[in-house]
Amino acid sequence: AIHLEGRHFLKELDFTAEEFRGLIDLAARLKAAKRAGAEVRLLRGKNIALIFEKSSTRTRCAFEVAAADQGASTTYIDPSGSHIGSKESAKDTARVLGRMFDAIEFRGDAQATVEELAQYAGVPVYNGLTDDWHPTQMLADVLTMTEHTDKPLREIAYAYLGDARLNMGNSYLVTGALLGMDVRIVAPRAYWPAPAVVARARALAEVSGARITLTEEIAEGVQGADFVATDVWVSMGEPKEVWDERIADLGPYSVTMDVLRATGNPDVRFLHCLPAFHDLGTSVARGIHDRHGLTELEVTDEVFESPHSVVFDEAENRMHTIKAVLVATLAPVG
Ligand code: CP
Ligand code: NVA
Repeated sequence: AIHLEGRHFLKELDFTAEEFRGLIDLAARLKAAKRAGAEVRLLRGKNIALIFEKSSTRTRCAFEVAAADQGASTTYIDPSGSHIGSKESAKDTARVLGRMFDAIEFRGDAQATVEELAQYAGVPVYNGLTDDWHPTQMLADVLTMTEHTDKPLREIAYAYLGDARLNMGNSYLVTGALLGMDVRIVAPRAYWPAPAVVARARALAEVSGARITLTEEIAEGVQGADFVATDVWVSMGEPKEVWDERIADLGPYSVTMDVLRATGNPDVRFLHCLPAFHDLGTSVARGIHDRHGLTELEVTDEVFESPHSVVFDEAENRMHTIKAVLVATLAPVG
């Protein structure tokens, strides 16, 4: 069993490779136990605060369902209905919530905010997405990868296409580097992770044996990949005006069937943290279509709906992996 009692999860690199793999194993066991109707409630009496400065479907629901399954309660805190971010500082908020709750989840813009909460809360703080990192998403992605290949982690190759400057690109790069995987960032150079993040990944790779590739060339980047991943081209918090330049810059990096074929791997799987713009099913997508005449952006509907796509396994795994984080950090060591 893995015990990370009292630990924060603010970014992937808060954990060693062994600890990260331990969380994946725990998530797999918790998933199997739930399916077998044999889940043991280890978090009875625990209370967890969920602060969301940005909207969420998966992350919020994953925390709420995971906590409920384990016998814990959650309180959802929307900044528009609380003092957070306007009338009360992160430092004071942390000290208040830390007196009432056993753990705090935070989603917002600044990594500095979640770091500040962690510094003052006195209880575990979890990053539910910032501009810089999406660590709980990485647990779900790695669990999903292990479910869709027989290869050990060190032999898995994945390529991330699109906007790699922010949370998802950074997180894919360092997670693969930490775990000794074959990671390819495939994007125009201006959309690569910041040099400091790349340097960190290369240093980790020296230790883990990871292969790190950053390339603008799609064919080279996806060759032999077991998984191809992407994310939205305009993230939460960015102005919608940037769609023009994103479509111009990232259009060639859309995950199409041709991109999947270029892997040379008939069993290649497609990952996306979601939400995705693959059709006209949302008002935002329709707005982009009306303005730009495009229906398919970071991924085509054909890929998204194909047997290659494992995005809903990935979405489900948000819950099992977040449950693993809660259990590992909050359950009494027994
Ligand atoms: N993937 C993800 O974090 O989804 P939500 O924004 O719905 O939480
Ligand atoms: N890069 C996206 C991820 C959403 C889960 C965003 O920050 O909006």
